[in-house]
Amino acid sequence: MDMKIAPSILASDYANLESELKRISSSDMIHVDVMDGHFVPNISIGAPVVAAIKKVCNIPFDVHLMISEPLKYAEDFAKAGADIICFHAESDNGIGETIEKILSLGKKAAVAVKPNTEIDVVFPYLDKLSMVLVMTVEPGFGGQSFMEHVMPKIEKLREMGYSGDIEVDGGIDPATIKIAAKAGANVFVAGSAVFKTAVPNDTIELLRNNAEG
Ligand code: DX5
Ligand code: ZN
Repeated sequence: MDMKIAPSILASDYANLESELKRISSSDMIHVDVMDGHFVPNISIGAPVVAAIKKVCNIPFDVHLMISEPLKYAEDFAKAGADIICFHAESDNGIGETIEKILSLGKKAAVAVKPNTEIDVVFPYLDKLSMVLVMTVEPGFGGQSFMEHVMPKIEKLREMGYSGDIEVDGGIDPATIKIAAKAGANVFVAGSAVFKTAVPNDTIELLRNNAEG
């Protein structure tokens, strides 16, 4: 299975987003963290910023909506240039309805689950999803520690034959990526581990090599 690295721009220098994107030119996807200060206790960026950086980057955008009402804002992010729209199973909107909305906008749909949410909630929708995001930290902030205890959720998805992308997000670094890859994940978000190094593109290569084992 192809191992994909998706750096999170949450850890980048927002004053220099265009040059920050050049530092991660070997990424497979760009992970964009959208927080509304309601679903999570933090506020990040919205659709206008996504639209702006889309103009200077042609790597696919993986937009992670940590917001209470993904149904209301999916269209804004589709228009802004999201390629994958990922929303939380724990949001205020119905999972099935939100997936249909994203697909109707011509975008790939993904569902994220927080560490304390059972993976079973996504089972009815797997045939419509391009990706399942298993959070390895509580969403809201970068720089937290990887939660190894959620790995059985990934193993369960693979054991039942799910062959789509499984993404992990939170605390991924050159060591923890090996644990997540072994469990069956193949898309790896990394914020701090990529941007807090001197040459992010080199770190992306290291992460990819470690995931491929
Ligand atoms: C957390 C975000 C993550 C975050 C990861 O709520 O969803 O994408 O940017 O940051 P690191 O890699 O620093 O844990
Ligand atoms: Zn994220």
